[in-house]
Amino acid sequence: AIERTLSIIKPDAVGKNVIGEIYSRFEKAGLKIVAAKMKHLSQAEAEGFYAEHRERGFFKDLVSFMTSGPVVVSVLEGENAVLAHRDILGATNPKDAAPGTIRADFAVSIDENAAHGSDSTTSAAREVAYFFSALEVCPRTR
Ligand code: CMP
Repeated sequence: AIERTLSIIKPDAVGKNVIGEIYSRFEKAGLKIVAAKMKHLSQAEAEGFYAEHRERGFFKDLVSFMTSGPVVVSVLEGENAVLAHRDILGATNPKDAAPGTIRADFAVSIDENAAHGSDSTTSAAREVAYFFSALEVCPRTR
């Protein structure tokens, strides 16, 4: 089915100047960018986005990393987009990420892992709505 998923290019990858390289991999895989913005997250915005991880030991470091510089937040649309996007990103821990995936190529640690992708269509709906209004998502007409 055609799905939408939320993609975040994290501060480490923005700092490495690989936004275009990452977008190119999405496009080559047939995923379409239907919404996009660059944003320097506030602490409250990062905490809200990752609220489900609030009790985890890594939460404080995660929020501090995610607010350390700008991110690029996008909505990707395509066949099986949630899984297709996660395949392109590779495993959360770059040590486990398959060669040729974004995390294998650009991430250095599980904390600074280059990109985020929604883990299910349910999370995707919540995450897309967290960052984008309905009018900011632009279905392709051509
Ligand atoms: P992300 O997909 O953005 O969702 C939560 C983030 O927490 C995850 O990517 C990792 O960058 C980070 N993180 C740090 N430690 C862990 C861990 N032990 N398990 C899962 N995520 C972790």
